[in-house]
Amino acid sequence: MSGTHLNKKLLKPVAPDRGSFPLDHENVCKDKMMKYIICLTENNQDNSKCRLEAKDYLSCRMDNTLMAKEECVATIKVLDIINNLNLIENIEIKVVFTKFAFHFCNVESFPRINITFYKDEDEWILWKQRGDPVLHIELAKWADLMLIAPLDANTLAKIAQGVCDNLLTCIVRAWDLNKRLIFCPAMNTKMWYHPITSEQISKLKSWGYIEIPCISKMLMCKDVGMGAMAEPEVIVKIVKEYLEKS
Ligand SMILES: Cc1cc2nc3c(=O)[nH]c(=O)nc-3n(C[C@H](O)[C@H](O)[C@H](O)COP(=O)(O)O)c2cc1C
Repeated sequence: MSGTHLNKKLLKPVAPDRGSFPLDHENVCKDKMMKYIICLTENNQDNSKCRLEAKDYLSCRMDNTLMAKEECVATIKVLDIINNLNLIENIEIKVVFTKFAFHFCNVESFPRINITFYKDEDEWILWKQRGDPVLHIELAKWADLMLIAPLDANTLAKIAQGVCDNLLTCIVRAWDLNKRLIFCPAMNTKMWYHPITSEQISKLKSWGYIEIPCISKMLMCKDVGMGAMAEPEVIVKIVKEYLEKS
């Protein structure tokens, strides 16, 4: 990769390991990548000043399905949703991962954005003794809207049954039904067509939760059919509409 002149300074991006984010090793999105890197460099690595450049670059990567690993696609989708929601004025976003979600999203490769990420262990880091804040209760009270994207079959089943054995499901269990909860199912086609799925989704909807339906496409397992999470831009548009309404 050649160097690029930036305000008379020579920028020589160092290529990290293959498959890591955000460099484009295949060079298909090179122009957009360079704009993003230049913006970050000019703005002291402050990603909040380069959201449009990041979005352009991520869209290019997604259109060209360049990521080496499927897990990176999941990372990009989540990142795309976060980046786009983060453009909304006065919004504050906190992201909760389940233990297994970490397999699909390389959080360390996320750009440094002003967003807090939580995982199950954080419950116990915050709570040491009686009187300390209980993270899932604090988060359930704090948020005006909750988006679960993607909602996998396992967590869907747990929520439908009231099971709360991790940070995410505890927040949902403590969620005030007067506030919006939007969920985006994502699972294999065979799982999707199992009758339990529609039963559980109906149950969530009966509580006022809002479904953003899944779509049909080639899934991670290479099966083609219903079960893919809705596209990030659709999710962002619907969330924005509900935020405007609340
Ligand atoms: C490679 C791989 C991909 C998976 N993709 C999905 C998926 O898209 N949807 C789903 O419901 N489960 C999927 N699973 C199964 C979940 O990871 C599993 O049910 C897990 O227990 C979910 O945990 P969580 O709900 O706490 O995140 C996948 C598993 C593997 C190994």
